[in-house]
Amino acid sequence: MRQNLIHRLSRLSPSIRTWLTDRLPVETIDNHLKNKMVPRHRHTLWYYLGGLTAFFLMVQILTGVLLMLYYKPTIDGAHQSVAYIINEVPFGWLIRSVHSWAANLMIAALLLHMVSVFYLQAYRPPRELMWMSGFILLFLILGFGFTGYLLPWDDVAFYATQIGTEVPKSIPFIGPTLVGLLRGGEDIGEATIPRMYTLHVFVLPIATLFLIGVHLFLNQYYGSSKPIKTPLKGEDIPFYPNFLLRDFRIWGFAFILLLCLSILMPWGLGEEADLLRPAPEGVKPEWYFIPMYQTLSILPSQILMIDGETFLNIVLMIGGLIVFLLPFLDRKAKNEERNKFILITGTIIIVYCIGITISAYM
Ligand code: HEM
Repeated sequence: MRQNLIHRLSRLSPSIRTWLTDRLPVETIDNHLKNKMVPRHRHTLWYYLGGLTAFFLMVQILTGVLLMLYYKPTIDGAHQSVAYIINEVPFGWLIRSVHSWAANLMIAALLLHMVSVFYLQAYRPPRELMWMSGFILLFLILGFGFTGYLLPWDDVAFYATQIGTEVPKSIPFIGPTLVGLLRGGEDIGEATIPRMYTLHVFVLPIATLFLIGVHLFLNQYYGSSKPIKTPLKGEDIPFYPNFLLRDFRIWGFAFILLLCLSILMPWGLGEEADLLRPAPEGVKPEWYFIPMYQTLSILPSQILMIDGETFLNIVLMIGGLIVFLLPFLDRKAKNEERNKFILITGTIIIVYCIGITISAYM
């Protein structure tokens, strides 16, 4: 049976209940919580992915704050302080391992969440702003991965970031300035770590938390969408508390998986980066940047009289804008019809990204 907030409060002693109801808009909060309903159908499973992403993000924030207690964002201190966290700080190796594994699992959950809302066409009215806020969140979360990767200042991180910061250089007009701002000079060096660190622990978290607030508020306001032409199985499930309790169960399993990975395969630390040493063999960026990186490596150096990198950047920017505006472009979904063209195009892009990522590791 569903119990609302007011019912729950009635279990408290009368003096505490009166104190709380005099000071807080309990009824307004209760009405807001009651608003969100989750439809029951054969795809209900996908509704867990957004919450799972949020769970991993909470783990990231918690472990990130603990790492900040010892990490030193300088060229001389970065690698040493990470080695100190792993070898000297009690459970430091575990906290760092959980932070690194959770980052990867968060991105995996986020990509699956995005793919699932795409196939459910959950971006159709009135949820356009949910899709758009989510799309910006995707970039912010990838930004965490990119900026965090360099912080241990080991060999692989250094060269992967060197390659990664090369790509935006060819964005027309703003590319070189953007790369200069990120690197703090011509090349990666002393000035880069504090910049990446400030983005990683200050700028990105503030922007992400604000946008997640907007994303979740909208979700609470609209409730979860009903997929097009999918038969429902019985009554909708109230989000609070019923679905939330199911979410907690999934989070429990995710936490166990995260601990197993972190303990059985502790996150390693390579040799300290040496600016004078040649790049080691086979340096690759993180798996979620592989589609872009691999595509770049197979493109000819000149396409339509434009430099290959510039061409890819232009295609990515136009493609990104189309995806951002998808809720307005998909006219069929607006009328509750499945849009085969968009679904097939999306599937081709997803299969391409998965295929090219797997091929990079073979
Ligand atoms: C940090 C990143 C994100 C978090 C924490 C997050 C969280 C959530 C949560 C908790 C929900 C409700 C449960 C669910 O339907 O899964 C949701 C729904 C939704 N999200 Fe996200 N999300 C994120 C990124 C994204 C991205 C990248 C997109 C797409 C570009 C997106 C689009 C949507 C849409 C359209 C819904 C509504 C689904 C429906 O009503 O059926 N989100 N999100």
